[in-house]
Amino acid sequence: MKPFTLLISAICLFALSSLAVAIHETQPAETQVVLPGANAAKLYDYITKQKPYTSWEMWPGKGKMYKGTQPHGDFLTTYVNDAAMSGIKAKKGSMPDGSIIAKENYGADKKFAALTVMYKIKGYNPAAADWFWAKYDGGGKIVASGKAEACIRCHEMNKGNDYIYSGQLKK
Ligand code: HEC
Repeated sequence: MKPFTLLISAICLFALSSLAVAIHETQPAETQVVLPGANAAKLYDYITKQKPYTSWEMWPGKGKMYKGTQPHGDFLTTYVNDAAMSGIKAKKGSMPDGSIIAKENYGADKKFAALTVMYKIKGYNPAAADWFWAKYDGGGKIVASGKAEACIRCHEMNKGNDYIYSGQLKK
């Protein structure tokens, strides 16, 4: 190769690599928020501060304060993150890893009483569809979390629907 050709190639290579670095650096910081893992306090932080559930979409077809049943409350508002929404729309019978459903529970007096959450973590609890369960009282205090037996025992009646009550995940 002639020295001139070599120089041009070197310049091209340098230009390409700096472009690659530039593209990498312009990735929005938002995509770098990592999911919290199996920890109720971190999960609460994630869904109230980092990715506030109140800015998520509501369960399709259900608005704010729809009528609920026991044990959850007389009125409910249910939010789903993007992963959970894609699971609802895909109609494949289950929700993907990273799905989070956050449900506000209100008493007959319409006072906010508790937040109940289902969060799917790959490999967390294969015996019960890998859901991490959490319940927080009106002030955000953890009331139940993890492989919560009471939650599982009732929700497993819908085992064939990925433990979900609010809607059919299959066509
Ligand atoms: C006795 C049955 C029962 C128990 C116990 C129970 N749930 Fe539920 N859950 C329901 C029903 C029924 C619904 C549908 C909404 C409604 O009608 O209240 C529901 C809905 C939900 C939803 C919305 C997604 C879905 O499945 O539709 C979440 C999240 C949830 N429950 C979390 C929990 C957590 C966390 C616990 C334990 C702290 C728990 N549940 C305990 C019956 C139960």
